[in-house]
Amino acid sequence: MSRAEERVGKTKQELDRVVFIGRTYQEYMRMFDLQLPELVGKKILDCPAGACSFTAHGSRLGLDIIASDITYDHKIDDLEHKGLQDIGHAMETMEQAKGNYVWDDYGNVDGLSRHRHQALQDCVRDMRESPERYVAAVLPELPFEDEQFHLVLSAHFLFMYSDRLDYDFHKQTIKELLRVASEEIRIFPLTDLTGSRYDHLDRLIHELEAEGLRVTENKVPYEFMRNGNSLLSIRKNI
Ligand SMILES: C[S@@+](CC[C@H](N)C(=O)[O-])C[C@H]1O[C@@H](n2cnc3c(N)ncnc32)[C@H](O)[C@@H]1O
Repeated sequence: MSRAEERVGKTKQELDRVVFIGRTYQEYMRMFDLQLPELVGKKILDCPAGACSFTAHGSRLGLDIIASDITYDHKIDDLEHKGLQDIGHAMETMEQAKGNYVWDDYGNVDGLSRHRHQALQDCVRDMRESPERYVAAVLPELPFEDEQFHLVLSAHFLFMYSDRLDYDFHKQTIKELLRVASEEIRIFPLTDLTGSRYDHLDRLIHELEAEGLRVTENKVPYEFMRNGNSLLSIRKNI
């Protein structure tokens, strides 16, 4: 196998390991309980942003947002293809697991699928038009300056995959998100894939408070996975 073929094989394996799916700008505003006016003039990081359209739409509204994800050094065409495959697969699995979700917003699996396709389509269009907003990074490390952002948002990664990502990884990642934030980080949801509250959340909150951070669990006006209707806010400089 040539070096080029090896590289293509490795790249494909890397992409196979992640799910390239994302939420829309409107879903983000509700899951992070945000209002547009409070975001104006702030530097915002979405990490890991996956196939979200928060950056695309927010930027069009004049917000200053950077998206970061492990996948962003792949070709946009490959990401789009992977995203379409992942939505198809996720919707098939969703048919079996419908009872674990609240359908008020989406109606049914087709409605959910439309939101996921819209997010992917808007995300890849923006990646093609404004690639500088999409920065590749492998957590728990980020290629950003200390306090480069006012607000850091992190959705559907920490806590959700606690079957695969251990406590140390969670702690290191949160420290890194805090390093690049000057004001606040918000994490959503606080549940794992079974809908149970993250096992080590109380320990985490206690340790962060002991470091002088202000940590609160806040209910949000969004619930899709049952019980997934709270965020964790961690504030600096209190
Ligand atoms: C389920 S998606 C969530 C995307 C988005 N935040 C949302 O709420 O729709 C999880 C994302 O984490 C990314 N990811 C997985 N491991 C990562 C790592 N070590 N560093 C950075 N991103 C990672 C994946 O590529 C994927 O896009």
